[in-house]
Amino acid sequence: MHVSAPLPGAEVGSTPTVGAGVISLEDLRSLPAEQQPEYADSERVDQVMAELRLLPPLVFAGECDTLTDRMAQVARGEAFVLQGGDCAETLAGVRAASIRNTLRTLLSMSVVLTYAAGVPVVKLGRIAGQYAKPRSKPTETRGGVELPAYRGDAVNGFPFTAADRAHDPDRLLRVYNASAATLNLVRAFTQGGEADLRQVHAWNSAFVAASPLGASYERLAREIDRAIGFMRACGIDSPAFSQVDLYSSHEALLLEYEHAMTRIDSRTGIPYNTSGHFLWIGERTRQVGGAHMALLANVANPIGVKLGPTTTLEQALDYVRVLNPDNVPGRLTFITRMGAANIRSVLPPLLRGVTDAGAEVAWISDPMHGNTYEAESGYKTRRFDDVLDEVYGFFEAHAAEGTWPGGVHVELSGEEVTECVGGGYQLVEGDLAQRYESVCDPRLNRAQSLEMAFLVADMLAKAAR
Ligand code: PEP
Ligand code: CO
Repeated sequence: MHVSAPLPGAEVGSTPTVGAGVISLEDLRSLPAEQQPEYADSERVDQVMAELRLLPPLVFAGECDTLTDRMAQVARGEAFVLQGGDCAETLAGVRAASIRNTLRTLLSMSVVLTYAAGVPVVKLGRIAGQYAKPRSKPTETRGGVELPAYRGDAVNGFPFTAADRAHDPDRLLRVYNASAATLNLVRAFTQGGEADLRQVHAWNSAFVAASPLGASYERLAREIDRAIGFMRACGIDSPAFSQVDLYSSHEALLLEYEHAMTRIDSRTGIPYNTSGHFLWIGERTRQVGGAHMALLANVANPIGVKLGPTTTLEQALDYVRVLNPDNVPGRLTFITRMGAANIRSVLPPLLRGVTDAGAEVAWISDPMHGNTYEAESGYKTRRFDDVLDEVYGFFEAHAAEGTWPGGVHVELSGEEVTECVGGGYQLVEGDLAQRYESVCDPRLNRAQSLEMAFLVADMLAKAAR
């Protein structure tokens, strides 16, 4: 196992040129940056940064390289990505049961996709680092009182008080520790027996079993049992039956935190962001020439960029040029989030133009963020059918252009929450208040997630033929 050295801070005098290898914090801070916290105490920020730089990496560079190889399979049309988890993780949410339920949901979905479509699935959690949120408005007003908007537990607190909403750099240390604890359980869970394919039944909950798809899931679990039993009887056994690789991912939003977590890999001398395996740039921070682009241009992890409905081909090609100048397959993923109404018109020209330019990228559909609306009760929600329709549009666009629909990116909970409407239980807007727990965007619950997996598996089986 190789060790990584902390990246020196402002004393490293490099220019923010693409591919320069190292970008100093000073240079990063000189670039335009959206959605950053405003800290009252800059001295405390520096102290927190200094402490973070000394803390161990959360992930290893070698693991990131393995994921790049897996993502290269996706770019080549040989594998499919399932990326999912909370919109916003919370510090209070770092509980064994909650993490286990999220993992079980992801694994159930992934088994459905692998088994029904016969395609290897790369599993990426929105987990162990998804604590910072971009917001459409900087402040929130309630009853005539205006306070800073909630920006995720990495920045401030959710309760609507001036003290909670103040931006606090010490939260970055808490987020580091919460991510470490979560990742520790993820590693134990995925390598220590819980992810054994003979547990497929156990991943299911009573809630899912009682859902319209419960029987299909149980049937699939029984078939997998028989298949594995058969292979074992023939003397074939493999760690792949009992362990899975689940990678961590989050939006690389907070420049200070992400820079402090960047380390020079001792094997290669190249910087990696060690706060998570896969990092993405959000829809609101994808400005070419902006700090977020420079941050991720200068680390070797596999990375993504969210592409919203206004994305131009010129922008997409700029992202390729800036973020993947050597055109390494698996390095760059475009995560499209156009909205069900736009996907069929906006995506095809992008697919065509990027492919014609010879760019090696993986394409993933985020069918959540372009389909959010506010219910009359004030809850932010999404219709299951709109989400599904965007995925259909995504698969149709790829079929028409001869490109590979490389994955889905969903916000989900392992709990029986009531945040999105529709799906097998036919939740309606009046049900939202029953169990709405997200501090940010509405998530699919367990049954809705599994239903999505079965429907996507059908589309994927056709695409893979
Ligand atoms: C998100 O993934 O939670 C998010 C904010 O997405 P986007 O940047 O696509 O709006
Ligand atoms: Co979200």
